[in-house]
Amino acid sequence: MEETPAASSRKFCEGKVKLIGRKPSHLDNGSVRPLPLHMKHIIALGALFLGSHSLLAQAGRVDLTSLANYANQARPAYIQRNNTTVGNAITDAGATLGRVLFYDKRLSKDNTISCSSCHRQETAFSDTSTASTGVAGTTGRHSMRLINARFATEARFFWDERAATLEAQTTRPIQDHVEMGFSGTSGDPAFSDLVVKLSAIDEYRVLFALVFGDATITENRVQRALAQFVRSIQSFDSKYDAGRATTPDNQPFPNFTAQENTGKQLFLNPPNGGGAGCAGCHRPPEFDIDPNSGNNGVTGSLSGGTDLTNTRSPTLRDLVAANGVPNGPMMHNGVFGTLAQVINHYAAIPGDNAGLDPRLRRPGGNVQTLNLSPQQRNDLAAFLRTLTGTSVYTDPKWSSPFNASGELELILFPAASVNSVTVTGGMMTVVNKAAPGLTYQLESSPDLAVWTPVSTVSADGNGNLSQSVPAVSGLFYRYTYTP
Ligand code: HEC
Ligand code: HEC
Repeated sequence: MEETPAASSRKFCEGKVKLIGRKPSHLDNGSVRPLPLHMKHIIALGALFLGSHSLLAQAGRVDLTSLANYANQARPAYIQRNNTTVGNAITDAGATLGRVLFYDKRLSKDNTISCSSCHRQETAFSDTSTASTGVAGTTGRHSMRLINARFATEARFFWDERAATLEAQTTRPIQDHVEMGFSGTSGDPAFSDLVVKLSAIDEYRVLFALVFGDATITENRVQRALAQFVRSIQSFDSKYDAGRATTPDNQPFPNFTAQENTGKQLFLNPPNGGGAGCAGCHRPPEFDIDPNSGNNGVTGSLSGGTDLTNTRSPTLRDLVAANGVPNGPMMHNGVFGTLAQVINHYAAIPGDNAGLDPRLRRPGGNVQTLNLSPQQRNDLAAFLRTLTGTSVYTDPKWSSPFNASGELELILFPAASVNSVTVTGGMMTVVNKAAPGLTYQLESSPDLAVWTPVSTVSADGNGNLSQSVPAVSGLFYRYTYTP
């Protein structure tokens, strides 16, 4: 993209002053004329240019005065695991910044690829392509669904668990030559160049200040915000959850069909008990992966040859969409396009290898074969389909904050502005709603034309700006925000 988004948005910020508030009026004593309060809204652009006002009305919008709930989402009492890194608990502001970063193509060297290019909400944050396309070619492994990452016991990430934490994981794709291209090698810009690039963008100055108290951008801060957003992505409204809410796993769920209950038992029971042994590694109710798992006998590499290092799996939740169609091919190499193929694999592990998990071997060293009838295989697949939720595919808080033109508008004052002025003695208190934690400027003017800074005021945790000033006759006040 040839545009310079920062420059165009700055120009717009200066030009756009929106009046909100009551008409000038006299207070009881007739001596002060403090209204209207009037606010400058910042409009920040995700990319490209700013169009007409009607175009603006369709801009993607994030209201910083009323953030979505990421920090206190309800989750079932039976969900116990939580791999949140100490010191990086999800906050609404942090996950909001993470959301913007996740969907921003400017995190790639040529402004073409965002995290969401390979992790799409409509397919449970995975990709329907076997190998995903980055800025310089395609990935060496299949993209992973980002569902319930927070609730996995295995807190190392990637198929081969090479990222020690989710925080560490998040900037790897940015620094990958193929994926987003800030590798600092092979002629690529470095991460420090991305920091310079993002630091020039108004909305990031606002968002980093909102989350971290100042606008400084560091790799650590980018990691913390992205990890908060990814950890916030949760899916606990499946048919399985409706059953599990009332009934332990080892009893038939009243809301399941007979087939689904049979499939559940096959999933839970070990092979020597007539089951398929899946729960030995993908334990309910999280269906994540046992941290001690070896590989599962899927050894082909997308780049040819063998790859025995893949010992992590995303949760088995949301393998398929609500209509039963897989959200993408499965396994690190995307080798299976259907649940039946997956089950057939476990029913006859194709061959031994040095890293094969012992649970997939039998006494004497033979690889696993399961005596599953065609009917039982269908039953198991029917159960796997009950693990699919609904809201994760559509909830706007996990969707792109940018509009189709790549524009983003940050709301820094509530749409229906709540402001008030109270006079006590010779002092006047000017109050306005704003974004919790951001620092605004209070300005005064005798004529609504020339404005003079009065003081800087930080919005408290409830988003209230409040400042007392001498009650002087004939002055107007407004709060403004300058990134
Ligand atoms: C070009 C495609 C592509 C882009 C862009 C991309 N990813 Fe990924 N992502 C993948 C692939 C492929 C894997 C698996 C790679 C592996 O294991 O070697 C993966 C794995 C992950 C995982 C590990 C999940 C788990 O359960 O272990 C997380 C988390 C993740 N990506 C988050 C992100 C974030 C955050 C961004 C943006 C900063 C991003 N990805 C950008 C393709 C991509
Ligand atoms: C010994 C541990 C183990 C057992 C038992 C096991 N799995 Fe897995 N599973 C894994 C590992 C490891 C992976 C990741 C393998 C890879 O991609 O190379 C995986 C991946 C998967 C995937 C792909 C997930 C994705 O996001 O693409 C599915 C589906 C799956 N397993 C289903 C099952 C079913 C069904 C059973 C029972 C029949 C089962 N697994 C038994 C370890 C196990």
